[in-house]
Amino acid sequence: MSSEATPLQPHLIPGRIEARAGNGHLTQLLLTSHASKAEVYLHGAHVTHFQRQGEHPLLFMSSRSSFAPGKPIRGGVPLIFPWFGPRDGAPAHGFARTAEWSLVESSANDDATRITLELTQPLDSPQWPAHRLRYRVTADTALRLELAVTNTSTTRAFPCESCLHTYFAIGDVAQAGIVGLQGARYLDKVDGFAEKAETATKIPITGETDRVYLDTAATVTISDPVWGRKLIVAKSGSASTVVWNPWIAKAKAMADFGDDEYPRMLCVESGNVDRNRITLAPGATATLAVELHSEPL
Ligand code: BG6
Repeated sequence: MSSEATPLQPHLIPGRIEARAGNGHLTQLLLTSHASKAEVYLHGAHVTHFQRQGEHPLLFMSSRSSFAPGKPIRGGVPLIFPWFGPRDGAPAHGFARTAEWSLVESSANDDATRITLELTQPLDSPQWPAHRLRYRVTADTALRLELAVTNTSTTRAFPCESCLHTYFAIGDVAQAGIVGLQGARYLDKVDGFAEKAETATKIPITGETDRVYLDTAATVTISDPVWGRKLIVAKSGSASTVVWNPWIAKAKAMADFGDDEYPRMLCVESGNVDRNRITLAPGATATLAVELHSEPL
């Protein structure tokens, strides 16, 4: 992986794209558009905040999150690559969320403010084929995230998982419902990965929930009656949707998550994981994109 930081200055646009030392002195980019504001760390290419003017924040951030080299941020949008979940002898959810990314492009116009971050491994290594990740973050009336993964190896295929692990801010998760997954099959991780079929039109969250919905490209809507809004997760290039809330016991067991924070968040994640993993041929690119916004309920 290339850790050479490219200079930020040429890509900053006063009043629209600014840089500062964020939590833990990690570099944070502040994006301002006509309609919204966003915050993105180079550490993990991690979006920690998006808020449209006059609305609640779209994303949940834990007050107990780490902000330190080598540690993942809890909340916002962790970028999961090239594996999803735990792996023996390696950090859970891959290396991309704790790597230092480079800012390589930026733009701002009347409607939108956009940055592109990059993480590259220029040569094949015993572990991974050479690859390039480009992550475009756009703030306008919605938060738009686009991850393009290119296998730059000339000889090796690259089987990989990816996921945009969005933590949504919710008034009260116990009153929320998830629409759009009825009929999909899922792996129920709190029931030993049992494969099940979703029967609910509106999925309630009533306890620890950790599900990998497979073979679904559907737009998902989260209804949040307490904040009177629905959150819309539209996606492309993604066959999996992961739904996660740790609930009480798991929340207590996590050092970087407050005991009483689980009612205020719900992860609805878009990616290609488990049997939806993608194998990139040499030279191939796969793009995973989401458009996230809220509307009154
Ligand atoms: C979810 C997984 O996507 O992420 C869960 O399905 C996991 O199993 C959760 O607990 C949080 O993972 P981490 O590594 O950020 O604690």
